[in-house]
Amino acid sequence: MRRPIIAGNWKMNKTIEGTIAFFQELKKLIPQGNDREVIVAPPFTSLYAASNHLNDSNIRLAAQDIFWEKKGAFTGEVSPGMLKNAGCQYAIIGHSERRQYFHENNETVNQKIKSALEEGLIAILCVGESLEERESKLTFSVVESQVAEGLKEISPDKMQGVVIAYEPIWAIGTGKTASTDQAEEVHLHIRKLLAGLFGKNVSESVRILYGGSVKSDNINDLMAKPNIDGALVGGASLDVQSFAKIINFNPI
Ligand code: PGA
Repeated sequence: MRRPIIAGNWKMNKTIEGTIAFFQELKKLIPQGNDREVIVAPPFTSLYAASNHLNDSNIRLAAQDIFWEKKGAFTGEVSPGMLKNAGCQYAIIGHSERRQYFHENNETVNQKIKSALEEGLIAILCVGESLEERESKLTFSVVESQVAEGLKEISPDKMQGVVIAYEPIWAIGTGKTASTDQAEEVHLHIRKLLAGLFGKNVSESVRILYGGSVKSDNINDLMAKPNIDGALVGGASLDVQSFAKIINFNPI
């Protein structure tokens, strides 16, 4: 049984005060002993304060990005060890906005995944095709190379520290969710690919999240699919009521 994950990616939103106010409310809105793994990725500047505030809670923190070096002359970058020290247990890696605006590619993503795993952070590897690629029927091949190259030289036993998020770029922030069948088709494809790369046990245990305009009114249908193990939520994770509704989903 794969434990469902609901992860919020706040992107470049919220101050420290806004972060604490959000978590004060969120703690009241989700039951203790929930079977869901709840993760939030605030901006770097809020992480330490959030982690102090969440001491008594099961809500976990993710970084939105990491750099692969441990320390040194890399102005503006933050290492996996620093993020762990600030209270993170997870790191989102290779989000499409990082790939699009900051020129990340499968090779840099692979370096980041390796360094996250080395530090004991759980890596959330983001993959997904553009609209043009989908229309050219390249979805499977794009996702295949993102998964295979992103996870290059990672041993099967290290894969327990990896979560995959399938986020079709055309569905991110657009209000256009992939249909549940479209999402499930790609998730199943990724699972088969993982079986080929790492063996059946790994492929059965890796959580594959869907991301792209997830809302409280589509989460139940998504979570009813056998290969969708959770969601990576952008816009709808900024509002505490809507994020809590997504966390408290109820698959049909
Ligand atoms: P969205 O973003 O939910 O606002 O579409 C998802 C993401 O970018 O992870």
